[in-house]
Amino acid sequence: MSELKKIMTLPGDGIGPEVMAQGVALLQALAAPLNMSFEFSEDLAGGACLHEYNVPIRDKTYSRCKNADAVLLGAVGLPEFDDNPTHLRPEKALLGLRAELGVFCNLRPAQLYDILVDASPLKKEFIAGLDLLVVRELCGGLYFGEPSGIVKRESGRFGISTMTYGEQEIRRIAIKAFELAQKRRGKVTSVDKANVLAVSQLWRAVVNETAADFPEVELEHMLIDNCAMQLVRNPKQFDVILTENMFGDILSDEASQLTGSIGMLPSASLGDGTPLYEPVHGSAPDIAGQDKANPIAMMNSVAMMLHYSFEQGQAAAAINQAVENVLQQGFHTGDIQIEGKLVGTGELGERIIEEVLKSL
Ligand code: IPM
Ligand code: MG
Repeated sequence: MSELKKIMTLPGDGIGPEVMAQGVALLQALAAPLNMSFEFSEDLAGGACLHEYNVPIRDKTYSRCKNADAVLLGAVGLPEFDDNPTHLRPEKALLGLRAELGVFCNLRPAQLYDILVDASPLKKEFIAGLDLLVVRELCGGLYFGEPSGIVKRESGRFGISTMTYGEQEIRRIAIKAFELAQKRRGKVTSVDKANVLAVSQLWRAVVNETAADFPEVELEHMLIDNCAMQLVRNPKQFDVILTENMFGDILSDEASQLTGSIGMLPSASLGDGTPLYEPVHGSAPDIAGQDKANPIAMMNSVAMMLHYSFEQGQAAAAINQAVENVLQQGFHTGDIQIEGKLVGTGELGERIIEEVLKSL
């Protein structure tokens, strides 16, 4: 009997549906060789859901996601909703989902494939062999802190967002980062703004306390402004970067560019409930529906799903390798600046799938 896994797919907006099609095709192709079966259910999220139901995501969709074994999301965001209030923006679907699923631990690995060394904006000697992991806290901080909103006072309007972290929230994400570092090169860089922010001072104290349980892991603290600089100055000094929600959002975009294109970065969001997997890139409405989007972040997000949710580490490694092989054969989408043949989303996806199947 093959194992049945329920996958909830939320293609979302812009290039989301195109890259999702490739992710689903990959899982379908892998089912038989891995002796697994996948049952897919699809739902609307983001702008697509606003169009249909005037809300970014429905409560029903949350329940369906909670009942699945894994959620795969394409991308959310459409410029036509830019002036909507926060609760009616496409992004709210993603934030709501993260909160509902309790996925506080967001993993964003940035690895540079050798063939893309010239596609990176940094010089080869600084970047070759780059392999770092951003561990971003995903359910707290500025994104969710209260009070928040725009209020009218006598002197005018005030915008309020609150960065708040309880020690439990800091400890649970710190533990994840240390555990992951144990399996990697044994170093955690915890990023904060402890020279200014009280919330960062608590962050630093709790990370130090947690470190006591992981004596074999080296811990360093770095201020966010310095880290942003170090990432382009000497990115190979990093193994695991542990940081809060907003800082992680910014640093992971910066890290993604080091790998040649934001179209490369996958992510896994893990926690108490159903895990969520999604490419780090956005909905890129400017190229949507044109078969131009890079499917690699999606393929590698599926790899992370196989690894973290289904104990298929070997299959995950096979996907990473297949991506590398296809890039080495010269096939690439327009966002990756390498010599070779420019192909569309569909063709790159198919080539990656063929390559994985050869290796299993
Ligand atoms: C990300 C995105 C999201 C975030 C947006 C779309 C809400 O930028 O996943 O990095 O800010 O977390
Ligand atoms: Mg972001």
